[in-house]
Amino acid sequence: MDLQVVGDYREMSELGAKIVSETIQEKKNAVLGLATGSTPEGMYARLVEKYRRGDLDFKSVVTFNLDEYVGLAPDHPQSYHYYMKRNLFDHVNLDPVNISIPTSSSDETLEEACRQFDKKIEHAGGIDLQLLGIGVNGHIGFNEPAPYLKTATHLVELAQETIEANSRFFQSKEEVPRKAVTMGLGSIMAADKILLLANGKNKAPAVRDSFSGLVSTETPASLLQLHRKVTIVIDREAASLL
Ligand code: GLP
Repeated sequence: MDLQVVGDYREMSELGAKIVSETIQEKKNAVLGLATGSTPEGMYARLVEKYRRGDLDFKSVVTFNLDEYVGLAPDHPQSYHYYMKRNLFDHVNLDPVNISIPTSSSDETLEEACRQFDKKIEHAGGIDLQLLGIGVNGHIGFNEPAPYLKTATHLVELAQETIEANSRFFQSKEEVPRKAVTMGLGSIMAADKILLLANGKNKAPAVRDSFSGLVSTETPASLLQLHRKVTIVIDREAASLL
């Protein structure tokens, strides 16, 4: 595990963007696993800047998003479809056919959609670099703390802590969807490289529990300690309990 503690959010975003850029520069048709949330926004902004300067080309890059709420239309401002358009897709030359986000369609067809999503990752040759944030409860994607974790893409009930944490993006707590679709631990752990970003004091307990040398499904991010090429880029506040 390569742990990089940086001074602040700006430095975290810059180092994150550098690592993603290197992956794309080394392999034009890199397969990226993308994350959402407030954490990677600064990193996406820097990737867009690099693209505008002509330092990055997304033409052949393939992307798979980690997760999506169930019940929000793709044009809902809090959907992850919309987030990705706003932060990255609308600003770079990614080919829309190379973009995949787990579906948010009705529960009935969801199981099949999840299976297809995993097949698509497999056909793409797996993920070269998986980006991750971390939830205050140690979740990755929407893999919430539980006695067992699922390997495949699946439907989840969001944990109370997650609903509370994400309510800051909605008018009220009641508006936060209760369900989501998330990539499972299988595709995440099968990625060639993993990059996890975290910043701020509120992430310090999750960071401590995830990278302390113990592994538990009750702290899903702790499983990343078993991956061979994981880089953790965190600011001083998120590292304060390590
Ligand atoms: C969200 C997402 C995660 C994200 C995490 C942290 O619920 N499903 O992929 O990493 O919670 O979000 P933030 O970066 O806004 O703190």
